[in-house]
Amino acid sequence: MIKFRNVTKKYTKDNYALKNVNLDILSGEFVFIIGASGAGKSTLMKLLYNEEHPTSGSVTIGGINIANLSNDKIPNLRRCMGIVFQDYKLLQNKTVYDNVAYVIRTLGISSKEINARVTGALKIVGLFNKKHALPSELSGGEQQRVGIARAIVNGPPLLIADEPTGNLDPKNSMEIMQILDQINQRGITVIVSTHDNAIVNHFRKRVITLDKGGIVRDIQAGTYE
Ligand SMILES: Nc1ncnc2c1ncn2[C@@H]1O[C@H](COP(=O)(O)OP(=O)(O)OP(=O)(O)O)[C@@H](O)[C@H]1O
Ligand SMILES: [Mg+2]
Repeated sequence: MIKFRNVTKKYTKDNYALKNVNLDILSGEFVFIIGASGAGKSTLMKLLYNEEHPTSGSVTIGGINIANLSNDKIPNLRRCMGIVFQDYKLLQNKTVYDNVAYVIRTLGISSKEINARVTGALKIVGLFNKKHALPSELSGGEQQRVGIARAIVNGPPLLIADEPTGNLDPKNSMEIMQILDQINQRGITVIVSTHDNAIVNHFRKRVITLDKGGIVRDIQAGTYE
């Protein structure tokens, strides 16, 4: 599903954020990306959701090289993936329901269909009973569950989460990761970056370790080390 071929990313002249990365991720996989601060985890993810472009090399998703996608094609690409952020990025003046519905309201689908999809997504993350709450009335773990519902409401084949539990305590972190695991079991490819060794050791998924912009370890059913 995803292929990185000789991908290098430099933000400045001599600083390699990613250096000659080659990587294949198959449809349906669950992958942890780990590595020290500055190793290149967020950069790898930003290349996938096209917030950054590689300096050289190619990134393909489903056979399409997204490395040099023109700006007008990016919305189409983003519709094929859900993105979850460490800081949730919720709209503070909108309810849980409206945060999840916001993007799909622009797609020209009926309000009945919108309601069905939002309800389905909120039930997957266990927050349907809080659909009228504002983000400020939710715990961090609940806010992240809204972020996940928003990411999956459009039924994307791919979910990308950059340190989704970075602001959460161990209990909430585990709950969030369990939700991501359940989403993966529905057939969605899930890529998660994390610093949380307890979580990586608990789930025993594929673990890819970055160090100074390069992949130094890539193992199935791995641990944090
Ligand atoms: N917008 C930018 N401009 C310049 N340099 C950047 C930019 N974004 C990242 N970098 C540099 O690229 C390298 C990789 O950064 P990246 O954010 O991908 O690391 P990370 O593994 O996500 O780190 P963390 O665990 O702290 O989130 C670092 O050296 C960082 O300073
Ligand atoms: Mg990062």
